[in-house]
Amino acid sequence: MTEDFVQTPEVQALLDRASGVESDAGDARLKAITRDLVEAIMKAIVKHDVSESEFWAAIKYFQDSGDEFGLIVPGVGLEHFMDLVMDARDAEAGRSGGTPRTIEGPLYVAGAPLVEGEANLTDDADDTDTLYMNGRVAGPDGEPVEGAILHVWHANSKGFYSHFDPTGTQSPFNNRRRIRIGPDGRYAFHSRMPSGYSVPPGGPTDRFMKALGRHGNRPAHVHFFVEAPGYRTLTTQINFGDDPFAGDDFAFATREGLLPVPNRQGDSAYIAFDFELQRAEVSDEEHFSARVRAEA
Ligand code: DHB
Ligand code: FE
Repeated sequence: MTEDFVQTPEVQALLDRASGVESDAGDARLKAITRDLVEAIMKAIVKHDVSESEFWAAIKYFQDSGDEFGLIVPGVGLEHFMDLVMDARDAEAGRSGGTPRTIEGPLYVAGAPLVEGEANLTDDADDTDTLYMNGRVAGPDGEPVEGAILHVWHANSKGFYSHFDPTGTQSPFNNRRRIRIGPDGRYAFHSRMPSGYSVPPGGPTDRFMKALGRHGNRPAHVHFFVEAPGYRTLTTQINFGDDPFAGDDFAFATREGLLPVPNRQGDSAYIAFDFELQRAEVSDEEHFSARVRAEA
C-alpha cells in the first residue's frame, strides 16, 4: 500500500466530514488546519505501515504525557521552528536587527517581584557560585529604552526552577524577578549560578528522547522577556558558552549571539550582555504573545 491510499475518495470524504468542511457552521480556519493535520497523520500511518498496537501505544503516550506537553514541544524542535518561522516572516517584511529571539520554554511564571536598581534574584540558600550580569537595553539607534521591564528567570544549582521544582523546596519566585530599567537603560543583577537543566528522569519527555537516541539536557541558561512602550517585546535567553551542552541543547534554544562565556573568577562569574530591541510597528507587538502562562 502507498500513501495514495489517503487520496482515495472514501478517505478524502472521511477527512471532509471529520473536519467539518462540509458544514457552514464552525471556524473555517480551524477546519482547514484540522483537515491538513489529520491527513498528515494518516499519510504517516500508511507510509510507515503503523500497526493497530503501535497506533494505540502512540495515543496512550499522548494521553499520559499531558503535563509534559510543554517539554515535548521544544524537544522535538517545534518551539525553535516557530522562531525560525517568525524570523523568516520578519525577513520577508524587511525587518531585521536587534538581539535574536529564542524560545521561551515552558517554565516562566507571571507575577515575579518588580524591583529597581542592582537586583538580587535569589531568595533561597544555594551553595554555589554567584553570577553577576549587567548591560544595557537599547533601541535600534542605540538610544536607551525608557520604561523597559526586564523579566528574568533561571534554574537553581540543581537545575530546578521555582514553582516547578519536584523537591518542593524553593520559594515561589526564587531566581525570578522583573527589573524596572532606569532612564540610562542599564540593568544589573546577581543570583546563585544556575546549572544545566534536564527533563524529569523517567518521564514522558525523557522516554521519548531516549527512544530517539537523544538526551533531554540543556546547557545552563538565563531567560528573558524585555518589554517597553513603543518597542517589540523580545523573548530570548543566554546559554553559557562554556557549558558541555552549549553545542548540543535538546531544546534547540542556543543561537549565535546568545552564547556568552561567563568570566569565572574564584566563586564569582561575570557576564556582560546588551539587549537591542526593535521598534514596534503595531501596538500588539509591545505585548506578550497570548500563550497561557503559569501564575503565582
Ligand atoms: C525546557 C526546559 C527549559 O528550561 C527551557 O528553557 C526550554 C525547554 C523543556 O523542559 O522542554
Ligand atoms: Fe529554561
